[in-house]
This record gives sequence, structure tokens and C-alpha cells, in this order.
Amino acid sequence: MNVLITGGMGYIGSHTCVEMLEAGLTPIIIDNLCNARSEVLNRIEHLTQQRPVFLEGDVRDEAFLDSVFAQYDIDSVIHFAGLKAVGESVRKPLEYYDNNVNGSLVLTRCMRKAGVTSLVFSSSATVYGDPQSVPITEQDPTGATTNPYGTSKYMVERCLMDLVHAEPEWSITLLRYFNPVGAHPSGLMGEDPQGTPNNLMPFIAQVAVGRREKLSIFGDDYQTKDGTGVRDYIHVLDLADGHIAALQQVGAKPGLHIFNLGTGQGSSVLDMVNAFSQASGKSIAYELCPRRPGDIAKCWASTDKAQRELGWKAKRSVTEMTADTWRWQSNNPQGY
Ligand code: NAD
Ligand code: UD1
Repeated sequence: MNVLITGGMGYIGSHTCVEMLEAGLTPIIIDNLCNARSEVLNRIEHLTQQRPVFLEGDVRDEAFLDSVFAQYDIDSVIHFAGLKAVGESVRKPLEYYDNNVNGSLVLTRCMRKAGVTSLVFSSSATVYGDPQSVPITEQDPTGATTNPYGTSKYMVERCLMDLVHAEPEWSITLLRYFNPVGAHPSGLMGEDPQGTPNNLMPFIAQVAVGRREKLSIFGDDYQTKDGTGVRDYIHVLDLADGHIAALQQVGAKPGLHIFNLGTGQGSSVLDMVNAFSQASGKSIAYELCPRRPGDIAKCWASTDKAQRELGWKAKRSVTEMTADTWRWQSNNPQGY
């Protein structure tokens, strides 16, 4: 099966390509490298003994996409390409809507021209906004987003829902990721944020490796077990496997398919600091700071639907998430 992977050189895309190659699927990667390094391709080859096709280009470039669909016999598309920094999206909303929303529209237009109607889209738990209750199910309300990044994900979801309603031959799968963390256990591939990390795990990892002095913990007065924010951290390889399960179970089934990809377990910021400290043998310096605007107290997934309909369940523990992140970070202190 030939699967076009947009954004396949990025963090989640690259791990998904490795898992796909190991499962006998053929990824064809397109990426404009705005947030990735070409070294990723060598690492994928090293791990799998196979070098996937990589075409450098932008998902908003219709002529480029047309040529890709003309050249390769694509069965399905997984659409990872997009911008993902929440703070930056507040400062640059037009760039975010252009990349994430317009990029998705150009992609689906080119897919339609090429007669390719199976699409898996990288959505986010951010579409649920501040949840009324946990665990969050796929039926819970969406749309009360708090920043342009989240709104762009919600808008793409709506566009794709309307598309499958109008053209029911499409198979559209919306995967709502909770908090992807971790790295390939080889230590060869992982998350390589440019500049100061926005997210918790890469920040902790950079403190442990000595690149940053201390972690700022945003808020210790939430209604949670220790006052710090609680999230559903999921190992990136479990997430990658969730994409393969989606392709295999529903990728050829016309209709709209929506799944949470999480573990169903919540961990607090302090849980993650302690787990990382254990995994790395380093103490993680931190200070307690005011809440970060837009943050919610707690969020974790109901995983029943993915388990029932995809036969997929996250397997890797927080211990593995932190150990694998540390192996990647300590072997590659400056990233790729
Ligand atoms: P990433 O930045 O590592 O990967 C995205 C890739 O897309 C990068 O390689 C980048 O160079 C590429 N890209 C960006 N714009 C492009 C364009 N216009 N044309 C072609 N390539 C382009 O991010 P990631 O963490 O791997 O996330 C992948 C997807 O999952 C994104 O859509 C993101 O919004 C979504 N997501 C991520 C998280 C997370 O915490 N990492 C959570 C929920 C959803
Ligand atoms: C963030 C994004 C969300 C996105 C998700 C996945 C925000 C407001 N939300 O979610 O849209 O879908 O990433 O990539 O950015 N924390 C600290 N110190 C830090 C960093 C984080 O204490 O330096 C805390 C946060 O307050 C939170 C937890 O760690 O309680 C997780 O934060 P983060 O990794 O940024 O993910 P989310 O906020 O869940």
C-alpha cells in the first residue's frame, strides 16, 4: 500500500514512517522542511534498511502535489504537515490558517483530481477546548478553541466533515492526539524543537541534558492531585501504530471516522518531572510559576472507541516515554 505522508520528516511523521516500513507499507514523504532536518531520512533508512521516497515541497503548492499524484500510485494520504506552536499562532494567525487550513484544502482538491479519497488527518485534543468532564469521548463538544492553532484544527475538521457529507465515497479519519512524547528506543530519532521548547517533555529533557537551567512549572493551584496540570501523555510509537491501525481498519471504509489517540491515563507535571528524573538519573531543577494563559487543569482520553473499532490500544508506559526521550536527548544533545 502506497501512503503519501505529508510532513513525514517531522516528529510524529518520521516515527510513523518507521512503523509503516516495518509493517510492510510504503510511505512516500513530502515535506517543505520548515520544521525538520533532512538527516531524518538517513535515520529512517538506518532503522529500517529502506530509504523512503522523499520529495521536498509544500502542501499549498497545487502543481507540486498534482505532479506527486501523477507520478505515484497513491492509495491513502496521512496529513501531518502543518504548523503547531500555540504561542506563535497567536502572533501569526494568518500564517497558521494559510498553512493548516489552506494547506488541507489544496491537498484534498489534488486528491480529488487524482481520484484518491482516503485521508487520515492529524487533529488534536485541543479541539475539545476546556473539557466539561474527563475522560473525553469523541462525542464531547468541540469548537471552543482558545487560540488560532486550535481553531485551525477545528476548521479543518469541519471542512472534512462537510466534504464527506457531500461526497460520501471519501474515507475521512480524524485522529485527535492527546500529548505525544517519547522517541524511538534506538535513540536515533526523536523530537527536535527549534528554539525554546513550548511543550513540557522536550523542555524537561533539555534541562536534564544541561541546555536549560530550570523548568518553569505553569501553575500549582489547579484542582488536581498535586495542583499541577494533568495530561494524557502518549508514546509517539503508540501514536504511530494508531495511524497504521486507522489505515488498515477504516482507511478503505467510506465515511467519517473520529478517534481519540491517548492512553486514558492522566499524569501531572510533577509526575513527569519525577519520572524523567528517575529515567535519567538527573535532578530536574524547577520553579513554580503562575498559570500559562489558555491552559486547562486536566485532560485525558476515553480510549474505548479506538480499542473497539481499531483494535488499537497504547502499550507503552510513562517509564518508557521518559527513558526513550532521555536516550534520544543524551545521544543527540543538540538534536539532529
Ligand atoms: P512537526 O513540526 O515535527 O512536523 C510537521 C512537519 O510538517 C514538519 O516536518 C514540517 O517541516 C512540515 N510542514 C509544515 N508545513 C508544511 C507545508 N506547508 N508543506 C509541507 N510540509 C510542511 O510536528 P509534529 O509534532 O510531528 O506534528 C504533526 C501533526 O500533528 C501536525 O499537524 C500537528 O499539528 C499535529 N499534532 C501534533 C501534536 C504534538 O504535540 N506534537 C499534538 C496534536 C496534533
Ligand atoms: C499544548 C497545546 C495544545 C497542543 C498540545 C500538543 C498550549 C496551551 N496547548 O498542550 O494546543 O495540542 O500542546 O502539542 O500550548 N508545562 C509547564 N512548563 C512548561 C511547559 C508545559 O509546566 O515549560 C505544563 C503545562 O502547563 C501543562 C503541561 O505541562 O500542564 C503540558 O503542557 P504542554 O506540553 O505544553 O502541552 P498542552 O498544554 O497539554
